[in-house]
Amino acid sequence: MASRRASSVESFKVMDVLQRANELQAQGKKVLHLEVGQPESGAPPSVANAAVEALTEPRVMGYTDAFGLLALREKISKYYQKHYGLSPDQVPTDRIVITTGSSGGFLLAFTGCFDAGDYVAIASSGYPCYRNILSALGCNLATIPINEEFKLTASELQSEIARRKEAGEAPIKGLILSSPSNPTGAMLHPDELQSLCRLCESENILFISDEIYHGITYGQKEATALEYSSKALIINSFSKYYSMSGWRLGWMVIPETVLDAINSLQQNMFINAPTLSQTAAMKCWDDDTIVELEKHVEKYRTSRELILNQLKNFTELNAKNIAPADGGFYIYVDLGEENVAPGYGSVKMCEELLETHYVAFTPGNDFEDPATSLGDRRFRISYAGGIETVREAMERFYTFWPTWMAQVKAAKS
Ligand SMILES: Cc1ncc(COP(=O)(O)O)c(C=O)c1O
Repeated sequence: MASRRASSVESFKVMDVLQRANELQAQGKKVLHLEVGQPESGAPPSVANAAVEALTEPRVMGYTDAFGLLALREKISKYYQKHYGLSPDQVPTDRIVITTGSSGGFLLAFTGCFDAGDYVAIASSGYPCYRNILSALGCNLATIPINEEFKLTASELQSEIARRKEAGEAPIKGLILSSPSNPTGAMLHPDELQSLCRLCESENILFISDEIYHGITYGQKEATALEYSSKALIINSFSKYYSMSGWRLGWMVIPETVLDAINSLQQNMFINAPTLSQTAAMKCWDDDTIVELEKHVEKYRTSRELILNQLKNFTELNAKNIAPADGGFYIYVDLGEENVAPGYGSVKMCEELLETHYVAFTPGNDFEDPATSLGDRRFRISYAGGIETVREAMERFYTFWPTWMAQVKAAKS
């Protein structure tokens, strides 16, 4: 029997969609995958070659220190200094932890920093695994709706803090937020990030800043929470910008106060992140690697433009209902109340689109507070899978749309 806590944890719905899409593919259908946020390109050749080389060396691929290879942590520290202009003191190697993907980082950070029963704030819309992992650990959620710009800023957090004080509810212990966001792509301006860091410090809230989509942005300057707070906990990964999702490698920069706790947890839960991946990741900041990775970003940019331009042809959709897509590789669309009917929302739309036109999008119920109906109004298009995939998917979606809208209208009348 599964534990009560585990039994109440929701599935990661995009993985359910992927499973069905793969079943259809196995039946010979030409399925277009715009559900998962997985880069179409593999790891950069320099990284892949380094892995091959490491395997052919006659040495044991053994454990590393719990926090990972010192040489890799030094590279990460240098990256923060170069990319964000931080000083070495702001990002010392002994506060850098190499993790088994950022997902491994969540487990370490949440377990290391929160107790069962603590309230942790998340944004809705937001990345579903925050909600699901926190629930599995017995934490309570303080779900905060994003504003009209699809962001959670200090102002929304402040309102929730005030509301809880007024209602005599327990204070918020932590906040986990990604900027650029999955699913909206919305990015906090550096000033907004600074205000959020300040508020968290003054309210004793641990700010966990998920910066996994850094590097994949379309014009706006990205800032790390480390610039504004040494108390913030930073989570990042090699899965997105570095195109290494299956290598299961990420990192955290953690505050001094939780070093020992996280060290013990890593030793006990994972021992260390995969040594082969750590060894190969040393190549991630080589000049030729960066040239290669920037080409990926250019492809994402083209796909993003393609989708945004196409969506203008969907006259029922209100442009204000399409999230800004400042970074990452997602477009998040709200159908609007007027374009849904009971039983005919984004969940069914995504299902029908997959079953009839073999295009996989993710319904909003993965990303929204289950207490609202927004999950059945919104859906996410991932454009990580390549320009041609995106082009064909949008053509098929355009063909599907009138039939779908006819069904919605019929259900409304
Ligand atoms: C916002 C965000 N954080 C974390 C992850 C997990 O990534 P990984 O465990 O591969 O580092 C994802 C994956 O899609 C994500 O979108």
